[in-house]
Amino acid sequence: MRVLSKQVTGYMEKSSWIRRMFEAGMELKKKYGAEAVCDFSLGNPDLPPPPEVGVALREIAEEVCRPFGLGYMPNFGYPFVRESLAGEISKEQGVPITAQDLVITCGAAGAINTVYRAVLEPGDEVVCPAPYFVEYGFYAENHGGSLRPVPTNPTDFSLDLSAMDAAITDKTRVVLINSPNNPTGRVYTLAELKGLTDILLRHNKGRERPIFLIADEPYRFLAYDGAVVPSLLPLYPYTVVVSSFSKNLSLAGARVGYALINPDMPEKTQMHDGIVLANRILGFVNAPALAQLLVHKAAGSQVDVGRYQGRRDAMAKVLTETGYTFAKPSGAFYFFPQAPGGDDVRFVNLLLEEKILGVPGSGFGAPGYFRLAFCVAQEVINRSREGFARAMAKVS
Ligand SMILES: Cc1ncc(COP(=O)(O)O)c(C=O)c1O
Repeated sequence: MRVLSKQVTGYMEKSSWIRRMFEAGMELKKKYGAEAVCDFSLGNPDLPPPPEVGVALREIAEEVCRPFGLGYMPNFGYPFVRESLAGEISKEQGVPITAQDLVITCGAAGAINTVYRAVLEPGDEVVCPAPYFVEYGFYAENHGGSLRPVPTNPTDFSLDLSAMDAAITDKTRVVLINSPNNPTGRVYTLAELKGLTDILLRHNKGRERPIFLIADEPYRFLAYDGAVVPSLLPLYPYTVVVSSFSKNLSLAGARVGYALINPDMPEKTQMHDGIVLANRILGFVNAPALAQLLVHKAAGSQVDVGRYQGRRDAMAKVLTETGYTFAKPSGAFYFFPQAPGGDDVRFVNLLLEEKILGVPGSGFGAPGYFRLAFCVAQEVINRSREGFARAMAKVS
């Protein structure tokens, strides 16, 4: 008997590539031992949270055993946590924001879902540059919408502005961008973003409801070689920034992030109230109390970006020396090289024979490429060289 909905049954049959690679990796590790496998499949930050997180946890342990110490709170989060986050985020965005512009959420994933819940209507489209974070499509469909991917320029993954322009129709309710990008590592330039927001401003004229721009920014802190991640807030009033502490504090399992409503949005109070309601009725209720207290006390600290930069450089060296073609990432912790031979699924299977785990670009809406997550120990990167060389030799 089928007990699940047709949609979920279909999702499970298609099963994400990341999940398949995860399972293949588990088998390889069981058979050969974890140290024999080079696992670049998952974007799960391996750097430990900074020491401030441990100190904060100990303090919290002393403080919470009082009435309502971990009780219900307003659905937007603890007011004092919103205050402190507003201060930090104002610095990051270079734009003054206040606590009232923030809703604390269950990670960036929770934030995207609450914003969608607040604005999407059945049949609405979310336009998004491809390649893209694989969950985006599911999230849109959770709320009756659908994802409309628009390919980026194939050499450097910069935005194809005329293609974005052409993809926007009466059905478009959201444009969703992610910079620094998963899976390409691309950081969009100010000129690209200005080009995009000019397009949105033009399309908005005469529309009954605006097109929202969601800027998904959990990797904002992770830009290399002085790359600047421009803020979208000054460029477009209907911007909502979504982000989290999953990567900058290595707190991916603690599930805490936020939605930031542009203080310049004329209907910002309505938008805030809608997102808060969505946070409640989606069953999140509020972001986890403990995680909110943690990020409040550890505010201002972050993991060592220099370590990720060292790994990026080591990975670039390995891939260059073994003959791969790729755009060097300016941010995040992913490489998205071209699949030698052109068939990404076949090539990822060749890598698997070398006990190297990557993810086919098809899983991110970009066949012909594959993704490598370099949030792994430097030793794994160095050890992968031989395997990358042998896999390349098999297709040349
Ligand atoms: C681009 C992007 N957006 C959102 C998320 C979700 O992150 P969170 O843990 O904040 O929900 C991820 C996680 O890897 C991501 O890569």
